[in-house]
Order: sequence, then C-alpha cells, then structure tokens
Amino acid sequence: MAPSPKFIRSPIISVLGHVDHGKTSLLDAIRGSKVASKEAGRITQMVGASYISIGSIEDIVSPIKSIFKTELNIPGLLFIDTPGHEAFSSLRERGGSICDMAILVIDILQGIQPQTIESIKILREYKTPFVIAANKIDALDGWKDTGKMSFLESLGLQRDDVKELLDNKVYGLIGTLSEQGMNAERFDRVKDFTKEFAIIPLSAKTKTGIAELLLLISGMSQKYLGPSLYVSTDEPVKGTVIEIKELKGLGTTADVIVYNGVLKKGDEMLFIGQDGVIKTKIRGLLMPNVSSNNPNEKYIYVDSVVAAAGVKLFAPGLENVIPGSPCGAVGGMDEQELANQRKSIIFEKGNSEGLFIKTDSLGSAEALIKLLQGKSIPISKVGVGPVSREDIMFAKTMGTKNKFFGAILAFNVKIGKDILEISDNESVKIIANDIIYRVIEEYELWKKDEEVRIKNSLKNEVAFPAKMRVLGDCFFRASDPAVCGVEILSGVLKPGAQLMDQQCKIVGELKSIQDKNISIPEAPKGMKIAISVSGAVLKKDITGGMTLYTHLNRHDVALWKENHLLLNEEEKALLKEIDKMILMNMILEKSGKVV
Ligand code: GTP
Ligand code: MG
Repeated sequence: MAPSPKFIRSPIISVLGHVDHGKTSLLDAIRGSKVASKEAGRITQMVGASYISIGSIEDIVSPIKSIFKTELNIPGLLFIDTPGHEAFSSLRERGGSICDMAILVIDILQGIQPQTIESIKILREYKTPFVIAANKIDALDGWKDTGKMSFLESLGLQRDDVKELLDNKVYGLIGTLSEQGMNAERFDRVKDFTKEFAIIPLSAKTKTGIAELLLLISGMSQKYLGPSLYVSTDEPVKGTVIEIKELKGLGTTADVIVYNGVLKKGDEMLFIGQDGVIKTKIRGLLMPNVSSNNPNEKYIYVDSVVAAAGVKLFAPGLENVIPGSPCGAVGGMDEQELANQRKSIIFEKGNSEGLFIKTDSLGSAEALIKLLQGKSIPISKVGVGPVSREDIMFAKTMGTKNKFFGAILAFNVKIGKDILEISDNESVKIIANDIIYRVIEEYELWKKDEEVRIKNSLKNEVAFPAKMRVLGDCFFRASDPAVCGVEILSGVLKPGAQLMDQQCKIVGELKSIQDKNISIPEAPKGMKIAISVSGAVLKKDITGGMTLYTHLNRHDVALWKENHLLLNEEEKALLKEIDKMILMNMILEKSGKVV
C-alpha cells in the first residue's frame, strides 16, 4: 500500500508570561475578540485554544509582507492561552509542553517578573523556540497611538524622546534577559533568528506591532519547525483534553487539542478518567460556527479534524475524563502507559484529616492543591466536577474529626440550590468562588470566625489550660481571699477558673489577677502575678513552691481535644499533662492509695 500523502499541519503556539502582562489581550488583538474583559477576575483560568487561519494572518500582515518577503504556506496557527498567575504552573507547563513555538509576553514597563522566569525555564526545558512580545508600548510616556500600524511604521511617527524611551526599555529587557543567559535583540536588529531571541515591541491594546509578531511567528515556525510540521493522515491521533463540559442535547463533551494525526467521527479513543482508562467511540466532532451569532448555532458538525486543531467531541463515558490529561487513538497510544499516567495525575494520597476540594479541571485542582500546600492546609480528597450530595456527606464526616475540615472548597464549579440546601442541613460549609485565591481567602476568614465562635462558647463552658508555680516569698494575705504570687509556667490564666493541685484536688476559685496592683484579664506564660483565691488558706491549701493548674475534668479535656486547633503546641502538651494527671489520680483513687 502506498504511504499516505504528507501535509503541513498548523503550528501550535503557546502564549506564556507573567500575570496581567497581556497574554489574553494579545490573543484578543489577533482574534479581534474581547475575551480578556469577560474573564472573572481578569485571570485566565483555563488553557484555551484559538485557531487563526492563514487568510486572517495574511490580512493582518499584508501591509508589511513585502518588507520581509516571506511566503506563508502553513494552513494557520493554533494559539493556546495560558494563565500567568503563580498558582497555575501546571497549566503553564502543559501549555508549554504541547506547543511547537511560543510567545513570551512581557509588560515593557514591568520587565521580567517571577512567572516570566518560570515560563523561560519551561520553554527551555522543552526546547521550544519562542519570540518575546514586549507588550503595552502604548503606556510609555508620550507614546502616540497610531492604531493597527506596524511597529516600525508607528515608531517612525513618534517623538525623538519617546523613541529614546522605547530604546531604553528594550535595552533594559535585553540586559535582564542576558542575566537569564539569553541573547536577545529587537527583531529588526536580529541577524540570526536561530541564535538570538527576537523582541517585538507592540501593544495588544492599540494593535500596533501585531502584524510583525504574526509575520515573525508564522515565518519562523514554517522555517525552523520544518519536518516536524509534516504529518500524514495515517499517523495515530494524539491530543490533550482541555475541558469537559455539558452541552444541552449532547450530554458530556470534551474540548481536545489534537496535535497529531487526523481525528475522525467513529474513531475509538482512549481517555484518562477518574476511575481508570476509558475506551470510547467518538460519536461526533464539533467546530465553532464562525458564520453565526446565534447561540443555538454555536457549533457545526465536521467528519474529521486535522492536527493541529481544537475540537469539541462527544462520546459515551466522557463524564469522568480528567481535564488536562492526554488522550489518543486506540492502537496509537499504549493503554498501560495511560494507566500509569493516570496514577501520577490523580491526587490519591489525601490526608486522613483535611479539606475536600472540588474544581472544574485537573489543572485548577493542581493549582489549588499547590496554594493550600503552600499554606500548610491539609487536603483529604480532590474531585473534578460539580459538588454532589456524596461530597457533602464526605465533608460532614471530616467535620466530625475536625470542625475546620467540615467544608468543601469549590473552585469554578456549579453549586445547585438543592446542594446548598443539603449542605445547610448537614452543617457543611461550601466555599465557592471562581477566583482561585479568593477561595482560600474565604476559607481562612470562615475558619477565623469559627475559631472565635468556638472559643467564645468554650470560654463559658471550660477553663483555659494553665499551669503555675506558687512563689514562696510572695504571700500577701492568708485567706478570704488568699492572695499570693505565682509564675505562669504554661498556658494562659484567666479569672473565674477553679484551681487544683497535682492530686486534682480543688484548692479554690481564682477571683482576680493583678500585675503591679492593677487587675488584668489574663496572664500568659512567663508572667509573674498576684492571684486572689477564694476558699483557700495560704500555707494550708496553698504552699510555697507548689504547682497549681486550672481545674479541668475529663469531659473538659475531651472538649479541648476536640478543638485542639485553638491551642498552640505548648498548650497541647499541657493538656496532655493534665489528662495524664487526672488519669493517674483516678487509678490511685480506685486502688485506694490516695489520702
Ligand atoms: P493572566 O491571564 O491573568 O495571566 O493575564 P494576561 O497576561 O492574560 O493579561 P490580560 O490580557 O488579562 O491583561 C491584563 C491587563 O493589562 C488588562 O487590564 C488589560 O487591559 C491590560 N493590557 C493588556 N495589554 C495591554 C496593552 O497593550 N496596553 C495597555 N495599556 N494595557 C494592556
Ligand atoms: Mg489571560
């Protein structure tokens, strides 16, 4: 059989960079859309793809094409946006790993930032060629907005001092990039594109310089990627699942970036699911319907898609597929290898006590896990998809182990009214937000409120654990009430508590605490104070050098144990000491050895 003909596929271009440096806006400028302003919190929380056909590219670059004399023969460019927020390193990495080339976006006023450096590291690791978009030139002092013009043409129209300011900024960038071991130069001064990184000053806002960026990226990708862009129709399909979504009338659909082969309706594919590898037959392929604005005609059916493409597909059993995971044709991908990959991406080793988190995709789950780990907040379980009744029951069980884990952190997932009702009835707190760091902020606020609430209610019920030593040379009044000096050895002493000795015998009630003749509400560890105790007689009930504790019984100790998060390590140790003391005395009492 004759081999299938080879064809050039569209290069996949990832857009990477620090948060807010203008990645989404840059793609908007290329697409002519306005995605960035619609995003919650202005942070791109998903890796999305946009396909720009060669026709649109030709339109944009036509005014300058003659300058560069580049003939374009790629079918188009597939752009992948990535989020710049610190927490999304796994998504950046995924975006960086499946692309052929990249655009590193740097805000020309801010220069290189932490996620710029991280992006450079990822691109280097994957040996991905990239160009640098020095964005927001319109924000330079005195820059004249010339609109959609090419950068060089626009530069010619700027004042001399503005030209100089731009040059300084570009030189600044070149300097900091060279600290990263990179040899960079403004694109029109680059002699060898294989040795120098091209910087294209541009503005996503005014679209100045977009033409040069597109021409460079198209020209470079077809020139330097060469053979890797030639694929044949019989190569196995490989892709990455970007998102799993419900679509009215069709059920669960998967948004997939196909980077190899030709995907056809009816193909058998392997996906990674929550519970194992899923084998399913593709029932339909959908592409965006650019010729209609009607929301009911958002997609059109296609019989096949050629790599590289972003396609929506539907098939039975996609509900559990993990967004962000690889997928591929049966026969083209090793089922065992996918099963191994599943193990590495599923969060299987949750803590026995911790929070339950629920997110819209694997990528955002990883991001949330990373943020929580950074704050040493334990996680018991992670799920992808909407919050369910089972999730609430799981969190409720967690809450019985530790009140602060009786909650679900839900990022970017739907919470139905019925679910809210169930969580209310079961006293499980659902903290939901579509901005990732707000989820954590809200959790911390809730935890603090709970702490105060529990502390207040505990205060009325039981004494705070405290241990003190009676100072032998500080006896001020013998009785009614007895007044003497003590030093707090551990815990916090507060008036109202009963005091007991090491045999757990109550010696009296603490009426007040005085520091240099002034009453104070509490005395922490290390403080030397005078205490007045009713019902006790000095030298009889209280003697110099003896150790006293706030009186706690077994029930009180159990209450504190339940709320141990309110105590610091030393206070926890004191609680243990008191518990042991109570137990010892109970045993002695039972055996009749106590006098
Ligand atoms: P993340 O996805 O959160 O990492 O951000 P991003 O890099 O996608 O940035 P985005 O496109 O959302 O833009 C961030 C902010 O910068 C927005 O307020 C934009 O309006 C603004 N911005 C983007 N490009 C330009 C530009 O060329 N000029 C000016 N003046 N502002 C810009
Ligand atoms: Mg963005």
